[in-house]
Amino acid sequence: MNDTGLRAQLFRRKPAAALMAEAESHSGGLKRALGALDLTLLGIGAIVGAGIFVLTGVAAARYAGPAIVLSFVVSGFACAMAALCYAEFAAMIPVAGSAYSYSYATMGELVGWIIGWDLVLEYAVAAAAVAVGWSGYLTVILHGVGIYLPVAITNAPGSVPGAIINLPALLVVMLITWVLYIGISESARINSIIVAVKLIVVGAVIVVGVFFVRPENWSPFAPMGWTGVMKGAAVIFFAYIGFDAVSTAAEEVIDPKRDLPLGILGSLLVCTVLYILVAGVLTGMVPAHLIDVNAPLASAFALRGMHALSGIISLGAVAGLSSVLLVMMLGQSRVFFAVSRDGLLPPAFSRIHPKYRTPYIPTTLTGIGVGITAALLPIQEIAELTNIGTLFAFVLVCFGVWILRHVEPDLKRPFRTPLVPLVPILGVIFCLYLMASLPLVTWIRFFVWMGIGLVIYFSYGRFHSRVQNNAVERARGHG
Ligand code: ALA
Repeated sequence: MNDTGLRAQLFRRKPAAALMAEAESHSGGLKRALGALDLTLLGIGAIVGAGIFVLTGVAAARYAGPAIVLSFVVSGFACAMAALCYAEFAAMIPVAGSAYSYSYATMGELVGWIIGWDLVLEYAVAAAAVAVGWSGYLTVILHGVGIYLPVAITNAPGSVPGAIINLPALLVVMLITWVLYIGISESARINSIIVAVKLIVVGAVIVVGVFFVRPENWSPFAPMGWTGVMKGAAVIFFAYIGFDAVSTAAEEVIDPKRDLPLGILGSLLVCTVLYILVAGVLTGMVPAHLIDVNAPLASAFALRGMHALSGIISLGAVAGLSSVLLVMMLGQSRVFFAVSRDGLLPPAFSRIHPKYRTPYIPTTLTGIGVGITAALLPIQEIAELTNIGTLFAFVLVCFGVWILRHVEPDLKRPFRTPLVPLVPILGVIFCLYLMASLPLVTWIRFFVWMGIGLVIYFSYGRFHSRVQNNAVERARGHG
């Protein structure tokens, strides 16, 4: 097979050295403004959201019971393995595309594209789900102060009788899109304020809640046994999604080699500890079967007569969900940016705004896509789709670290994943185990989505790939 043959084309890797040179040559592109603390806050901003504020209730009440604490440990462990692998890649190849770029470098263009497409599930679909959750919490707060928004404008059509559009979800997406459009420094600053509010609220849940724990609520500990723990883990995995979004801001970091591993691992560590404590307190405060599945944390305090604190928690949730939206949509636009720079999407996706220096076209398109989806679809139903997509990305990143150690052993690795291949193998096994705990319908939707991605690749990307076109040029030059 010659150099331009189909197989060579599909599996042609984009050398890691080329990726690094590309990132370094882009000092005139995206603005480098972020440090380790900004990144950790960005990570926490992306991580603490609908997972802990909403899904903990579903997972504890329906599947795991008080053993939701173990579900958080299992999911947290899978994420820790993946995070150690992400950290090696992010420090070594600090480019905007995250898992997409890492897979392109290690497993070739087709796998790279598959992951790039898959990341839409992680970022854009998750953002749409979070926007719908945000709208739900806002409605609860407004009820609390006597304002009743009509059902017609606060729900997706078909979800409840008379519903037409989820207007608050659409509006919050538009607002966040504008923040991202006007610049990364502004985005990071607004994010830091929101994260502070969110951490205070979560801290208050733990510190106040612990005085209301009744140990008898922890029994029976695991009503549905290990199956319940795993099903719970597959659902609350959503709560951890986001630490990897830190890596998509790589080209906007002042010292990426040092700060990216700190940001990724630091934010995951903080959130894991908080989640386990929150889960323990929540299930200690309220018997598992009485946990409210819509607003579990706020309701737990309302049940104990602390209505003011319950209101503050709802406000914290609204702020918290806003920052998740911000980072998820930031991540999505940066992935489109990186994919387009490689020619697999049209060049408009990598155009940078002359004044704001942001990739404004993918930012705007992401906003439109997420906004319409959040306004019109009952997104909660496909939240599990986000999980399967993200777990799949984690599996490939873990494999990728291992493969690159063999293919390019001499590359400079500012951060090295410990105990290779044990850590990547454990990451793959745990992520696959969590994927296996998701329902069949989620798997079917996942395959349909990936099928659409393949059609796009074989009808556009393959013919416009810069790596391919360079290879063809080189072949012609030699011939
Ligand atoms: N981890 C994010 C959340 O829980 C996606 O909302």
